[in-house]
Amino acid sequence: MTQNNNLCDIGFIGLGVMGKNLVLNLADNGFSIAAFDLDIAKVEDAIAQDKAESGSSTARVVGCSSYTELLSCLKPPHLIVLSVPAGAPVDQVCENLIGAGIQPDDIVIDTGNSLWVDTVAREKKYKNNFILFSSAVSGGEVGARFGPALMPSGSPYAWTRIKPIWQAIAAKVDAKTGKPIERTKPGDVVTEGEPCAAYIGPAGAGHYVKMVHNGIEYADMQIICEAYQMLRDGLGLSSLEIADIFEQWNNGPLDSYLMEISVEVLRHQVGDDNTPLVDLILDKAGQKGTGLWTAMSSLELGTPAPTIAQAVYARSISSFKDLRVHASTVLSGPDAQSFTEQEKTDFIDQLQDAIYCAKICAYAQGFQLMKLAEKEHNWQLDFASIAKIWRAGCIIRAVFLQSITQAFERNPELDNLLLDEFFAEQLCKHQLNWRKAVANSALMGIPTGAISSALSYYDSMRCAVLPANLLQGQRDFFGAHTFERVDKPAGKKFHVSWSSNTRDINEVG
Ligand code: 6PG
Repeated sequence: MTQNNNLCDIGFIGLGVMGKNLVLNLADNGFSIAAFDLDIAKVEDAIAQDKAESGSSTARVVGCSSYTELLSCLKPPHLIVLSVPAGAPVDQVCENLIGAGIQPDDIVIDTGNSLWVDTVAREKKYKNNFILFSSAVSGGEVGARFGPALMPSGSPYAWTRIKPIWQAIAAKVDAKTGKPIERTKPGDVVTEGEPCAAYIGPAGAGHYVKMVHNGIEYADMQIICEAYQMLRDGLGLSSLEIADIFEQWNNGPLDSYLMEISVEVLRHQVGDDNTPLVDLILDKAGQKGTGLWTAMSSLELGTPAPTIAQAVYARSISSFKDLRVHASTVLSGPDAQSFTEQEKTDFIDQLQDAIYCAKICAYAQGFQLMKLAEKEHNWQLDFASIAKIWRAGCIIRAVFLQSITQAFERNPELDNLLLDEFFAEQLCKHQLNWRKAVANSALMGIPTGAISSALSYYDSMRCAVLPANLLQGQRDFFGAHTFERVDKPAGKKFHVSWSSNTRDINEVG
């Protein structure tokens, strides 16, 4: 292992793809790193890559072969970044650091996708041993290398120490346009622009916000995939034709990283016969759990996030491949339709508007969920700042995030994005096409759970009177669950003696 007599700024544990790229990003920004991984080969690989990229003979990354050596290589009080899988590995590393003599004023930053309640519990559990800080990272390996979005939370004292480092390595946005400032080469450093790293709140808040980011990510991806299926199975278009359509869409309000990478995936061809790779990829979606956590949290808090939940279900149903293949031979659907050129053009336009509107609803659900969580957990979330962080570096980065930022800047207390003047106007303008696209999908037998659930969400939200009056009647009938009345003061409860002949209505409780 390389030895270095100078003490390093930052200790880094976990040199998987994300970890290694964060290390190289930190090094590019002038921080010296002491790196450790249980797999020594990963440490050596990070050092070799750093040397090759920096062209410097002086090591910016120092390898360590134990937790004790790692601590001895760092400037006190120690600052240690963890990039290890969420769950038990985080605790294992924390215990090992305690064993190696970590001090109470040392700071450990968990950058994984930890479940937010685990982070809250860990902060308490380790408070006498060290300061546990968390900072979820979004942006995948490229983001980690050239500028991720960072969602830091925990001790405000720790944040004062971490802030300059985090703001240096984060993605940057041009303050005027809201567009990302490109940084794509090793050695590049961006010092101007607004960094996509702002303090979110106390322990757990940052991981909660990242969890919702991922829930929105699930919805965003599923919405795009549904559009792909509509174009593939409805219009019979090839992957290359669909890529061209997505590329066009990516020039307007749908301009986003996820749309951009969808074009790349659809255009990728393999083999001598140029088979689109996407046709060779098995249609079974994986998931690590953050979308599920978001949907579960929305159910627990009682705030609707049906498009996010639907995106999780879509992944689940995709995993039942054998059952679907069998069912496809048993269950019937509508006959295939043919379209005129004009009908095809209209279909594509309608779909574009549908994606846009569904996307607005998915974000509205995610932000409303964070608002409810904020109240429940007594956090003070700055939604404009969260939208700003997501404008670059992260997986859901999109031009659209600038409009969300502006909506929360106009009204920081906004209850739901749908009520913002810009978004209300956009939904009004595009809703007819959205409805036509959903109707098309139903008539053609193509599943569009996310796009359709978003439309139901929109329609439910704009319904002054929902059928829950009948539902309350049903509940009262079989379970004496009582109901409130529109013609009586709020809070007063009534029950009908349904089993008696008289069916008297009595005020109860
Ligand atoms: C990000 C991503 C990243 C990862 C998630 C989702 O923001 O960089 O969200 O955290 O892709 O783990 O993964 P799954 O799709 O496997 O749940």
